[in-house]
Amino acid sequence: MSVGGYSLRPFSELDIPQRASWLCDPRTSDTMPLEGHITEASTRAWWARVQQDHTRCDVVLEQSGRVVAMGGLTGFDPSTRRAELYAFVSPVHHGQGYGTQLVSRLCNLGFSAARLNRVFLWTYAMNAPAIALYSKVGFITEGCLRQHSVTRGTLLDRQVMGLLRAEWQALPWADPGVQYSWFRDKFGIGN
Ligand SMILES: CC(C)(COP(=O)(O)OP(=O)(O)OC[C@H]1O[C@@H](n2cnc3c(N)ncnc32)[C@H](O)[C@@H]1OP(=O)(O)O)[C@@H](O)C(=O)NCCC(=O)NCCS
Repeated sequence: MSVGGYSLRPFSELDIPQRASWLCDPRTSDTMPLEGHITEASTRAWWARVQQDHTRCDVVLEQSGRVVAMGGLTGFDPSTRRAELYAFVSPVHHGQGYGTQLVSRLCNLGFSAARLNRVFLWTYAMNAPAIALYSKVGFITEGCLRQHSVTRGTLLDRQVMGLLRAEWQALPWADPGVQYSWFRDKFGIGN
């Protein structure tokens, strides 16, 4: 599906070098809790591990055929119908609306195709651009775990934000009819 030149597609092996280079960039890594030093080899190992994982879905957002952002929904839980969202934008394209496009499309995928009841995420409490983005999209701040994580020797607060199905349905960009055939092929559910 391509709307406004945007298209959400599944992450593929060809995206590995770009993912690795974006995650190595301090404009990304400074605000994401990454484990160890990210390399192309470690990203290949990550992809070999997660592509068989049917509790998650990793995607890229393209605009006019160029990859501008990456993210996913992880930890699909059938009993609570919830999943965790993650997102990051090309480090040279922050502040151009790509995060908004990615997160709203991921929510449409989660609530519509995956029939979730809740999408939630964690972010550093000092990550003002991320909190502004998620709030703009419609996520509610649900709490803060104080001094919960350590990054380069500094204890940082972690904020949890969530969006419920009923809240998503009331949002102007909600698309209950969204179709992603690749999602159905992988998970056997959805449209
Ligand atoms: C956080 C991130 C995903 C935001 O994506 P983005 O494409 O830059 O965000 P958008 O351009 O869609 O902006 C959405 C809103 O966030 C706010 N915003 C964006 N950049 C901001 C900044 N530097 N400071 C404060 N608010 C900002 C604005 O309110 C904006 O809405 P507006 O343009 O209508 O005013 C992106 O900065 C990023 O990838 N950061 C590094 C990785 C990361 O922190 N990921 C999130 C981990 S939880």
